[in-house]
Amino acid sequence: MILLLGASGYIGGAFARELQRRQWAFRPLSRKEVDYSRFEVLLEFLKKTRPEFLVNVAGYTGKPNVDACEVARADTLAGNALLPQTIAHACAICAIPWGHVSSGCVFSGAKVTLNGQTRAEKDLTRPDLRSLVEQSPDAIHGFTETDPQNFTFRDPPCSFYSGTKALGEEAIAGVGQSYIWRLRIPFDEFDNTRNYLSKVQRYEKVYDNVNSISHRGDFARACLDLWECHAPFGTYNVTNPGFVTTRRVVDLVEKILQPARRFEFWQNDTEFYRRAAKTLRSNCVLDVSKLLATGVKIRPVVEAIEDSLRNWQPE
Ligand SMILES: NC(=O)c1ccc[n+]([C@@H]2O[C@H](COP(=O)([O-])OP(=O)(O)OC[C@H]3O[C@@H](n4cnc5c(N)ncnc54)[C@H](OP(=O)(O)O)[C@@H]3O)[C@@H](O)[C@H]2O)c1
Repeated sequence: MILLLGASGYIGGAFARELQRRQWAFRPLSRKEVDYSRFEVLLEFLKKTRPEFLVNVAGYTGKPNVDACEVARADTLAGNALLPQTIAHACAICAIPWGHVSSGCVFSGAKVTLNGQTRAEKDLTRPDLRSLVEQSPDAIHGFTETDPQNFTFRDPPCSFYSGTKALGEEAIAGVGQSYIWRLRIPFDEFDNTRNYLSKVQRYEKVYDNVNSISHRGDFARACLDLWECHAPFGTYNVTNPGFVTTRRVVDLVEKILQPARRFEFWQNDTEFYRRAAKTLRSNCVLDVSKLLATGVKIRPVVEAIEDSLRNWQPE
C-alpha cells in the first residue's frame, strides 16, 4: 500500500488519479482523519499500517498566491519545512522509502552562456537577457539538481514560501531514503483557479517572464515512474523539458482558444511589483536531464501546453 499525504490538495488530486489509473493500492490520508503533522501520531500510524512507499503532497502554498505566505509565516514554515522533517524521521525509523513534492522555486533565472562563459543570472527580464531568450534560446540552460539554490533564506532575496521550501529540502537531505520531486507552476486541461493556463487567462494584466513548468498529470506520472523503475533516491527536477515565456503561452492561448479578450502585459518588474505583487516571484529554468536519464518519459513543454489547450475543459 502507498500512503498519500495531502491527497485533498490540487497536486494531491493528480497523484490520486494516477494511482487509481495504475490500480496501485493506496490510502489517501488527511490531517482531519490522522494528524500526520505530529511526529508521534505519524510514527504510530506508519508502524500500524506499514506502507511500502509514502508520497507527501502536503504543504502550504498560500492562496490565492504566494503573497499569502508572507502573512501566514508559521503555517508556511510548518507545512513546508517542519512537516517534511517530521515525515523524513518517521519514515527513517520505519525504513519506509518516500517521495516529497518540493518546488523549483528555490531557483531564480537560468544559467546563461555569453561569450563562451556560462554563469547563473537571476533576472531574465533584463533587456539583454530577454532578447537572448528570444534570439538564442540555446544559450539558456536550466539549473541542475547539483547547482546551488539561489532564491532561499541562505541566498536572499527570496519569498518566504521559497525560503521554507528550501529549508524542507535541507531537512530531508541524508535522512532515510527519499525522492525530492521539484514541481513548477502546474497546468493542465482542467480550468481551475490553481491552473497556470487559467491564471494567465484571468489576470487583469499578464506578467511576462521565462519559466520551466509542469503538466500536473505528467508530473505525478513521472514521479511515480521514478519509484517504479527503482531510480536512485535523491532530488529530481520534474518539469516538461524546455522553457516558455509567458508571451509564448499567451500566443498559444490566443491561437487555440481564441478568447474574446485582448491580453495586456505589465510594462516591467517595477510596475508589476508596485501594482500586482507583494513578494518576489521565482521565475526559473530547470534542467531535466537527470530525470530523462533514468528512462522516465515526459513530453516537451510546448507539446503539453498545446495538448492542454486543445482539450480545454472550462470550469
Ligand atoms: N500548486 C503549485 O503551484 C505548486 C508549485 C510547486 C510546488 N508545489 C508544492 O506542491 C505541494 C502541494 O501543493 P498544492 O498546490 O496541492 O497545495 P494545496 O492544494 O493547498 O494542498 C495541500 C494539502 O496539504 C495538506 N496540508 C498538510 N499540512 C498543511 C499545512 N500546514 N497547511 C496547509 N495544508 C497542509 C492539506 O491536506 P489535509 O489537511 O487534507 O491533510 C492540503 O490539502 C506543496 O508542497 C507545494 O509547495 C505546489
